[in-house]
Amino acid sequence: MNDFVFQNTTKVYFGKDQLKNLGTELKNYGRRVLLVYGGGSIKKIGLYDKVLKEISSAGLECFELSGVEPNPRHTTVNRGAEICKQKKIDVLLAVGGGSTIDCTKAIAAAAYYDGDAWDLVKGTASVVNALPIVTVLTLAATGSEMDCGGVISNMQTHEKLAILSPLLQPKASFLNPENTYSVSKFQTACGSVDILSHVFDSYYFTMQPKMDFIDRVMTDLIKTVVKYAPIALETPDNYEARANLMWASSWALNGFVAAGIDQDVSCHMMEHELSAFYDITHGLGLAILTPRWLKYVLDENTAPQIKKFGVDVFGTDPSLSDMGGANAAIDALSDFFFHTLGLKSTLSELGIDDSNFPIMAQKACNGGTLHGFKPLTPKDVEAIYRMCL
Ligand code: NZQ
Ligand code: ZN
Repeated sequence: MNDFVFQNTTKVYFGKDQLKNLGTELKNYGRRVLLVYGGGSIKKIGLYDKVLKEISSAGLECFELSGVEPNPRHTTVNRGAEICKQKKIDVLLAVGGGSTIDCTKAIAAAAYYDGDAWDLVKGTASVVNALPIVTVLTLAATGSEMDCGGVISNMQTHEKLAILSPLLQPKASFLNPENTYSVSKFQTACGSVDILSHVFDSYYFTMQPKMDFIDRVMTDLIKTVVKYAPIALETPDNYEARANLMWASSWALNGFVAAGIDQDVSCHMMEHELSAFYDITHGLGLAILTPRWLKYVLDENTAPQIKKFGVDVFGTDPSLSDMGGANAAIDALSDFFFHTLGLKSTLSELGIDDSNFPIMAQKACNGGTLHGFKPLTPKDVEAIYRMCL
């Protein structure tokens, strides 16, 4: 087990009646606020008005950047950074899902950079400073509300890359499960897959040594999502279901379950290429990839863990052989994604063919090998994409 440091500095206000603390929280960082949001869902659910009321009653000045895209673009980051410089913004307030929060993180860094924000994402320039960030989360999925990364897309170059820095950790995040009641069935399903994938991809399916305690926590986190996602689909305003999904989202990726496990993200790297080339929803790409990835990496070394997953999470037959049990587990996971959550199961259904697979596979591996449950070369990645057709 590797040595590790655990520190998560985001202050979380969780629950129905916490927004009254927003003004005080923002005031800790200054007077001039840039409110960042997406395509308008926050207006439809009345959250925009509530946020503005809190900002104005705290005596703060508010500027706005709207229209952040799902799979946020570097061009939008540049627009936001320009506003920060011109209006001398003190603090950023992201109200929305992962895309809005990620875009806000990149803006926070770009506000201190005189150039194209893409340089910071690409890593040709470093994040040296960042404006403070406060978030109001409206979709349980990415964990961006409690982590220090953001994912930004450059549609011109078909690249979707992460910007990572401790400076981008939100100072505070407001998590009211009621704000997720309006999330569509599709986005609820995709968000739930994303939460699961953060656990699977990063820490759960690994050959690295894990603490038994952490393995149990991850199993329960996975079971929580498997239990509550269908309830949220059936009854979108079920507070208990939305609360469980929201808190699971934050804890899947806030560093706690890492506990000395090096984070490998094979499925995420493969999915980011799908989003970069075809602008698909992140969680949907993960749902299509994950069972195929597990099938591809299945061998006598990985089978016992995959089998255990099936037994612990889906109650598959423990008396099966390792191989038989692992296959049963993968079938149960596919059934959960494609029947219970109702997601499309193939890339062909999304209109994606194999024409870009070779270049996507090269890019996913970034000139080397993808590390994870089993190392993957570009040839392997291409084969997994083909299994998804
Ligand atoms: O834009 P608006 O109008 O707000 O609508 C959004 C968007 O169309 C809508 N939505 C959000 N909250 C809603 C709502 N609709 C109704 N009611 C609400 N309460 O949902 C749609 C999707 O929103 P988006 O923010 O794109 O979804 P998500 O939270 O899943 O974020 C996905 C992005 O995060 C990245 C993904 O790659 C993707 O770009 N990720 C970020 C990570 C991180 N920062 O750590 C890790 C993840 O692995 C992931 O890569
Ligand atoms: Zn993800």
